[in-house]
Amino acid sequence: MALMQFWSSLLILGTVVFAWKYLEIRKARNALHNIAGPPPASFLKGSISQFFSRDSTDFQRRLAFDYAPIAKLYSMFGRPMLYVSDPKALYTIMIKDEPSFPEPDSFISTNHLIFGRGLVATLGETHRKQRKLLNPAFSINHMRHIIPIFYNVAHKLRNGLMKQIVGGTEEVDLLEWMSRAALELIGQGGLGYSFDPLVEDTHNEYGDALRALFPNLVKIPIMRLMTPYLIRLGPAAFRRFVLKFVPDGGVQSLRYIADTMDSQSRAIFEKKKAALLQGEEAVLQQVGEGKDIISILIRANASTSEVDRLPEDQIIAQMSTLVFAATDTTSNTLARILQILAEFPDVQEKLRAEVIDAHAGESLTYDELDQLPLLDGVCRETLRLNPPGVFISRVANRDTILPLAEPIIGVDGSLISEIPVVKGTEVIIGILGCNARKDLWGEDAHEWKPERWLAPLPEKVTKNTIPGVYANLMTFIGGKRACIGFKFSEMEMKVVLSVLLTNFTFELTDKPIVWNAAAVRYPTVGRMDNKPQMPLKVRLYEGAKV
Ligand code: HEM
Ligand SMILES: *[C@@H]1O[C@H](CO)[C@@H](O)[C@H](O)[C@H]1NC(C)=O
Ligand SMILES: *[C@@H]1O[C@H](CO)[C@@H](O)[C@H](O)[C@H]1NC(C)=O
Repeated sequence: MALMQFWSSLLILGTVVFAWKYLEIRKARNALHNIAGPPPASFLKGSISQFFSRDSTDFQRRLAFDYAPIAKLYSMFGRPMLYVSDPKALYTIMIKDEPSFPEPDSFISTNHLIFGRGLVATLGETHRKQRKLLNPAFSINHMRHIIPIFYNVAHKLRNGLMKQIVGGTEEVDLLEWMSRAALELIGQGGLGYSFDPLVEDTHNEYGDALRALFPNLVKIPIMRLMTPYLIRLGPAAFRRFVLKFVPDGGVQSLRYIADTMDSQSRAIFEKKKAALLQGEEAVLQQVGEGKDIISILIRANASTSEVDRLPEDQIIAQMSTLVFAATDTTSNTLARILQILAEFPDVQEKLRAEVIDAHAGESLTYDELDQLPLLDGVCRETLRLNPPGVFISRVANRDTILPLAEPIIGVDGSLISEIPVVKGTEVIIGILGCNARKDLWGEDAHEWKPERWLAPLPEKVTKNTIPGVYANLMTFIGGKRACIGFKFSEMEMKVVLSVLLTNFTFELTDKPIVWNAAAVRYPTVGRMDNKPQMPLKVRLYEGAKV
């Protein structure tokens, strides 16, 4: 009897949830019925596999360029999503109405489980407090202090590469070297910790754990959607205990990775704290001489007002968060720049002349390095056309409206100047779309032309308030959750490029390089191979031939 009651209650509950979801989806569909977009592959799975798989590059480009700045696509069970690259709509999402468009629950809670409560795992007031304490460590003033650390690492990278090309010219996987360099740069500049001497093959437990994180995350797509519920399963120690019994290789690897990152971060943190307690002498003897972000945070925490202080756990969580956010993004961008310079030997030569003339390969100050025009143009143009992440997601947490910079034409032919968005609708920030639309950037918008940054930008770009923190681009997005490390990344790239171009030239091999769609895009040789790599011919440069 009791069992019958149980099943019938469950049936009623199921029906109610189903009906509620159905009404929700119908409301969202009605609101967006007039918006055009590519047809979904199926009702059940919508456009998810077209949009989110390794081969999605073409689909993502079509979505960015072949539709109006607002396009509709579908997630599961016919639920519509919006792809947005209109500047005014983006401004509304990122800045004006930012509280209505938080990151998806599954994003926040997956990050929480992996990194702890760092920047990418918090919302609202906690996030604001963390940013406030972290901001000074990413200020231009601080960049001025850490440029010598960057040069130090870049020179080790150069020496490491030298040993690879004993014959004067050699094919080298530059992605691997850029990954090692990016990890070491955030290690020394961010944590005051050295992961990798950049000499030969070395292994570091923390570094290995970080590298294994992404490949293991993509193995458990369903688990990731369940994280908002997992996180409510009681305290961390209990969740860890439960996870031990999940019979899944991916989950077990992730548990090991998260534990390793946490214990390694904790050990580094304790060392920094001890050095600060011992006084200036001990601080100066560490890697980075106490100029790293973590030492700054510990000092800032001690001197800020009581309400703005952060518990130790949140500072420790920032460490893996920063390292993770800093490495693949920067290393893949560097690999992309080197590939493009190999494709455009004339630009490579001009850029080499610029950096050698300025002695940028030895050691410049922040301001000197930042002012090299072609170096700046090459970085900007590559980040414009090849943002490592071509989109990110937000979810409307209430019914609201997105006004458009310019009206679009609806499916029925009428003009639309604002779009109603129903609570629960996923909104995709069209980073690539906004960076490279012809109606904003001009007819040559899809071409790689670093010179465009040496002249005034088109008025359409500058007069629209594109809400990007960097160069009217959405690559690092904007607003409260913009990339905190964009200057850090830009300067890393400028130092590494200056040093490498001073002593090497880069040429293409005949291997076909393919860029694969992912949260951070990565290159492989051909479509079938799984190993991320960027083979290029590296040749010693020994001065201009006379
Ligand atoms: C080319 C290099 C990089 C690109 C394109 C990039 C891009 C981005 C983007 C698009 C976001 C927003 C993600 C979201 O809201 O879902 C972000 C956030 C973040 N980035 Fe970067 N990033 C780069 C390098 C770096 C570096 C070098 C660091 C650290 C030194 C860093 C640290 C962070 C952090 C901590 C966040 C989270 C900020 C917050 O939520 O408050 N990034 N980045
Ligand atoms: C920040 O200060 C608070 C209050 O003094 C202290 O409890 C906390 O441990 C400090 N956090 C760090 C990371 O030093
Ligand atoms: C790199 O190039 C500079 C400038 O041409 C030169 O002075 C230096 O010796 C080179 N470095 C190495 C390690 O060959």
